[in-house]
Amino acid sequence: MALNTKYNAVITALGMYVPDKIYDNKYFEKIVDTSDEWIKSRTGISERRILENGATSDLATGAAKNLLEKYNINPEDIDVIIVSTVTPDMFFPATACLVQDNIGAKNAWGFDLSAACSGFIYGFHVGASLIETGRYKKVMVIGADKMSSITDYTDRNNCILFGDAGAAVLLEPTEDKNYGLQDSLLHCDGSGREALYMKGGGSLNPSSHETVDKKMHFIYQDGKAVFKVAVKGMADISYEIMQKNKLTAEDVAFLVPHQANLRIIDATAERMGISKDKVMINIDRYGNTTAATIPMCLVEYYRAGKVKKGDKLILSSFGAGYTYGACYLVWGMD
Ligand code: ACO
Repeated sequence: MALNTKYNAVITALGMYVPDKIYDNKYFEKIVDTSDEWIKSRTGISERRILENGATSDLATGAAKNLLEKYNINPEDIDVIIVSTVTPDMFFPATACLVQDNIGAKNAWGFDLSAACSGFIYGFHVGASLIETGRYKKVMVIGADKMSSITDYTDRNNCILFGDAGAAVLLEPTEDKNYGLQDSLLHCDGSGREALYMKGGGSLNPSSHETVDKKMHFIYQDGKAVFKVAVKGMADISYEIMQKNKLTAEDVAFLVPHQANLRIIDATAERMGISKDKVMINIDRYGNTTAATIPMCLVEYYRAGKVKKGDKLILSSFGAGYTYGACYLVWGMD
């Protein structure tokens, strides 16, 4: 469904950053009661990257610099920086401010956006909306999370799932309505807040000896409950955006799903009637990197020459909140 604005927001540059350190499934066999076979068959994950020294701003800055350098973009031309993350360096200042300073984006303003695994979908929609107003020419949307900073490495239910990474896209206006973001469907459902959350450290349970003793600064997840709603939520929203825009499975070049569990991804593709070769997947190498999964897929598949100008993509996600959503975009880069 075309937007009723003069401009569409189109991706004109991309970048990503992953730390060098790899934790493979064998590593987890040594620290918790698990097996490579269990992890692969239940999640699709073989290994993930871990940032041993540094913070989310380093992942986000690495991704932003990779983008700027590859496309020879002057950081002073960036108008806005949005960093989607649930693992900001600090409560304040925003990680976006740290990235702004690190890359020398002297003329930019920016902010962090908290929507967990839907962080990139939300950030992409917000960034695109800023472009569509005609007021901004270059908006950088970054998804970055250092999930290892909130992961309990004695909890086998969670520690095998997550990794650290950052990825960025640059949005610019185009008057050619055939390209760029065409439609978004976004939702949140706070009734799911206790199925997946970090209990401590915020204003409800400020950090104390007690919150640390109770491990309230780590991810808590009721995996089974989240799995059930995530399978249905991501499949439904992806199907709905196809229906709304009258897209058949043949029309869609790629589904770009949040990478939380290969079984959730498979169920979504099945519901959309999309074959596996049209699903972007890299969960095997990175695990769940929360806000970074979707833009990292875009970077890797585009750089491998698999995404062509005019390709129709459906991005979709489901995550803590609950937050969920889907975007329909037409690829505008050669
Ligand atoms: N190794 C071996 N066994 C394990 C492990 C492990 N690492 N983890 C759990 N198990 C055990 C459980 O203890 C359980 O044993 P029990 O039957 O004796 O109690 C058994 O395996 C089965 O556990 P389930 O929870 O049923 O396993 P499931 O197949 O559901 O997989 C998983 C667990 C991978 C967490 C899955 O539920 C899942 O992917 N959930 C959704 C995750 C998600 O999408 N999150 C949203 C995004 S994240 C975000 O927003 C930050």
